[in-house]
Amino acid sequence: MPDFRTPVPLGQTGLEVSRLGIGSSFTGDPRFIEEAVDQGVNYLYWGSIRRPAFGRAIRHIARRKRESVVLTVQSYSRVAALMAPSIELALRRTGVDYFDFLLLGMWNQRPWPKLLDAARSLREQGKVRHLMLSTHNRPSLRGHFEAFEAGESPFAAFMLRYNAVHRGAEKDVFPFLPETRRPGIVTYTTTRWGHLLDPAKMPPGETPPRARDCYRFALSHPDVDMALCGPANREQMQEALRALDAGPLDPEETKRMERIGAHIYRHNKPKFAEGGDAKGTAV
Ligand SMILES: NC(=O)c1ccc[n+]([C@@H]2O[C@H](COP(=O)([O-])OP(=O)(O)OC[C@H]3O[C@@H](n4cnc5c(N)ncnc54)[C@H](OP(=O)(O)O)[C@@H]3O)[C@@H](O)[C@H]2O)c1
Repeated sequence: MPDFRTPVPLGQTGLEVSRLGIGSSFTGDPRFIEEAVDQGVNYLYWGSIRRPAFGRAIRHIARRKRESVVLTVQSYSRVAALMAPSIELALRRTGVDYFDFLLLGMWNQRPWPKLLDAARSLREQGKVRHLMLSTHNRPSLRGHFEAFEAGESPFAAFMLRYNAVHRGAEKDVFPFLPETRRPGIVTYTTTRWGHLLDPAKMPPGETPPRARDCYRFALSHPDVDMALCGPANREQMQEALRALDAGPLDPEETKRMERIGAHIYRHNKPKFAEGGDAKGTAV
């Protein structure tokens, strides 16, 4: 029986990561991030919004235990010349010598060659150790996986949407992962922008899941290495951490999450549609 407290290898990077990672977009207080790291989370992702408080948390944590945390910085840059200055600034702000991952954010098609050259150059200089790509075009990952399997992908890990409402990855992503020598797989939007926690969006007679169960849903899929959470405060962070102790959903809990997810899917349009979604809908 898998448990969620044990760190897992992230693809072929040699890095071991906690099953839960923390994103910085909603955070205004570095203290609860530092507390969560002391409670076993070791993956910190400075993006999509690089909140200064999160940068301060990285600085404090790295001073104490740089080698035991995995730090990711994101760039949305589409201009190759702007990428290095953006990463240099992130290094100065956090006081670290390198990031474990440079995440190229929201690439729905292949990043263009000049941009990849800029990312590779940062890797060659040791300012970042690995490259990751996030996409809102799930079917495009199939080509990335083929390149990965052939040893031709610049990326060590991929980030995509997966939750109880949006289960499309079960059909158009996970089955295409290489069987051996897999890349790392990180998922986002686990609470579906909070919809899965909203009493007003539930099927009649159903109470909302707890946030921990949304993270447990994603992590219970065998192809998901890590789910991100975006806590806005200490309470949300602690609730997310409970997923690690609770472990995988049992079959009844899974059915309930799928039932609620299917209802939300039918009645609530997504904030952002994705490549791979059925026409006019959102799986
Ligand atoms: N690069 C990309 O392509 C990409 C795509 C998506 C997300 N991201 C990033 O990934 C990180 C994680 O974001 P996410 O959306 O995946 O995280 P998430 O944990 O699914 O959602 C975060 C939001 O869910 C609500 N929430 C979480 N825990 C809660 C609780 N215990 N009780 C009530 N509400 C709770 C909060 O919203 P309220 O308190 O506001 O209601 C919180 O702001 C962020 O840094 C985000 O910017 C990146």
